[in-house]
Amino acid sequence: MPKIKVAFAGIGNCASAFVQGIEYYGNCGSDDDHVGLRNFVLGGFHPKDVEVVAAFDINDRKVGRDLSEAILAQPNSIPKLADVPPCNVVVHKGPVLDGLGEYAKHVVQVSKMLEVSVAKTLKESDAEIVINSLPSGAAKASQYYAEQALVAGCSFVNITPSFIASDAAWIKRFEEAEMPVVGDDLIDQVGATTLHKTLLQLLSTRGVRITETYQLDVGGGMESLDTLERTKEVKRIVKTEAVESALPYPAEVVAGSTDYVDFLQNRRDSYFWISGVCFGNVPMQIDLKLSTVDAPNAGSVLLDVVRAMRIARDRKEKGAILPICAYAFKHPPQHVPLEAAEKMFADFITEEEG
Ligand SMILES: NC(=O)c1ccc[n+]([C@@H]2O[C@H](COP(=O)([O-])OP(=O)(O)OC[C@H]3O[C@@H](n4cnc5c(N)ncnc54)[C@H](O)[C@@H]3O)[C@@H](O)[C@H]2O)c1
Repeated sequence: MPKIKVAFAGIGNCASAFVQGIEYYGNCGSDDDHVGLRNFVLGGFHPKDVEVVAAFDINDRKVGRDLSEAILAQPNSIPKLADVPPCNVVVHKGPVLDGLGEYAKHVVQVSKMLEVSVAKTLKESDAEIVINSLPSGAAKASQYYAEQALVAGCSFVNITPSFIASDAAWIKRFEEAEMPVVGDDLIDQVGATTLHKTLLQLLSTRGVRITETYQLDVGGGMESLDTLERTKEVKRIVKTEAVESALPYPAEVVAGSTDYVDFLQNRRDSYFWISGVCFGNVPMQIDLKLSTVDAPNAGSVLLDVVRAMRIARDRKEKGAILPICAYAFKHPPQHVPLEAAEKMFADFITEEEG
């Protein structure tokens, strides 16, 4: 089976978790324990069938280095998951554009190396999928990589909250180029949005009328710093819409990121408050805290997405692929209830060609 060849734009914590995850699970046999993975085999593909063939960043600690070293370079802060041997993939320099916010400029030095032609590098590396994992405030740079993916004939996976797979104009461009695109803003394996939606669904199916609920979080790492400066508002909109979609009736819902706490590193603490009424209009509340490590939380879902994108490409699907978007992203082109999204995705994976 030909490998699924992936390129990463942005070698931050998520890219690091993904690359280490391929190594971690790639060495597992079918009879081993695949703890932490939802699907060891998906559509016939194992984690070892995925290969990162190109990488782009701007940070001088990452550009010019082998990917196996760059994924561990500061300010990346995820815990080490696996020993990744040298992979002969050098991190290339892409254009900075809006990649660095004012806060990040105090932490990151831009590499002085020459920028490569991204589309040409993608073609030469034989990449078939570009994963956009730039900071959430890098809207222009995200669009740039979507553009380069189109030029190079690559599918596009947008894990950031910049709107691409949920934007009608971009969807049309990928349709015209006969390429699949999915996004926006990856949903974590067990993140605040999934937990919040599941709890609300559980309560509403059991007859509870939710009146008010919020979800707020604090995190460390560059992404939380960038959110604090540039994307608090957009993240609040994306998360609130996603959580609201879990309730069959209107309620007061607030969901967003609140602050950056340096010493948390890649950890994230999420706080939930749910208030409602049950039998006889009697009040009930839930007050909850979830602690996770951010980037590994994206790994399992992203591995599923990449394998599903190979299936989409083999079937010559084009434009936004709703079953993948609804299953794996907080801001798909169309919100679909959790259970329906799961079923759509499972049907998509097993559906016969044609
Ligand atoms: N669980 C999760 O971590 C999760 C979940 C959903 C969405 N996301 C999204 O994934 C994205 C990546 O998250 P992260 O934690 O890896 O962020 P990060 O800040 O650790 O990594 C971003 C990387 O992009 C690089 N970069 C900045 N500008 C660039 C440019 N112009 N060209 C190339 N590289 C550039 C940075 O140097 C850095 O290495 C974010 O948008 C985040 O919102 C993450």
